[in-house]
Amino acid sequence: MATASGEDRSPATRVALVTGANKGIGRAIAAGLAERNFTVYLAARDAARGESAAAELRSIGDVRFIPLDVTSQADVDAAAKRLDGDFSQLDALVDNAGVSTLNHRPLDHLPKPTEETADDMRFVYEVNVFAVVRMVNAFLPLLLRSPAGRIVNVTSKRGSIGEEGAWVGQPSMAYSSSKTALNAVTVHYARELADTPIKVNGAAPGFVATDFNNFRGTRTPEQGAAVAIRLATLGPDGPTGTVFEDDTRLAW
Ligand SMILES: NC(=O)c1ccc[n+]([C@@H]2O[C@H](COP(=O)([O-])OP(=O)(O)OC[C@H]3O[C@@H](n4cnc5c(N)ncnc54)[C@H](OP(=O)(O)O)[C@@H]3O)[C@@H](O)[C@H]2O)c1
Repeated sequence: MATASGEDRSPATRVALVTGANKGIGRAIAAGLAERNFTVYLAARDAARGESAAAELRSIGDVRFIPLDVTSQADVDAAAKRLDGDFSQLDALVDNAGVSTLNHRPLDHLPKPTEETADDMRFVYEVNVFAVVRMVNAFLPLLLRSPAGRIVNVTSKRGSIGEEGAWVGQPSMAYSSSKTALNAVTVHYARELADTPIKVNGAAPGFVATDFNNFRGTRTPEQGAAVAIRLATLGPDGPTGTVFEDDTRLAW
């Protein structure tokens, strides 16, 4: 089938977009989906970093850089327009881009809740929550044209508010509560879209060695990416409105 850009689209071609994919877990998700024969739009806010990551992954498959700061409505609209022209549908949207308070202002330790400000909260929520809403709204028409659209929101065990999450480990109120909100957003979309082929789930990667934690994590990006890849390629009987870490469904 020829698309608006004249590109041939075999019915077997599946298309994915991964945000924040120039490094870390997002890059590993992009690589894993390319290995599974998806055409992957590797989205990154920095053109040099994004182009370079996409070029490295092109030895695996069809990986294309797409400029995308998820906090920019103009960037998101332009990305959706480009995919509409290239393929006119999207099979997997992986909302992976994420930040913490430490991306906002320098601190030599993870902040306690009382050390975080409303500005910290707003900064973190812009990327981890509001941008996901922006992405879903922009890409939903393309996902609805897929026979099996999948939305995967990369979340964290820290988003749980029970004993698995907020009560254990290092407390960052802004980060953890942003993932709690993201999990809730995931369920709301899943519920509304339950009568469509689309499935919406959260993927918690575990503690992964990336820039996010100065590489203190104990898992590789590939290990962290596996659950997102699985949820992006779920069959028709797969779950919707859930959060998984590996094969374990997490409590809210
Ligand atoms: N690492 C862990 O242990 C762990 C655990 C649980 C959940 N997670 C989640 O996993 C996801 C990926 O984290 P990671 O560990 O791979 O961290 P990372 O290596 O720091 O990668 C974060 C990515 O998000 C991008 N990003 C940040 N703000 C953005 C924006 N406004 N627009 C577009 N991209 C933006 C970054 O781009 P730049 O390179 O341009 O900054 C980078 O590509 C996040 O959602 C994080 O919350 C990580």
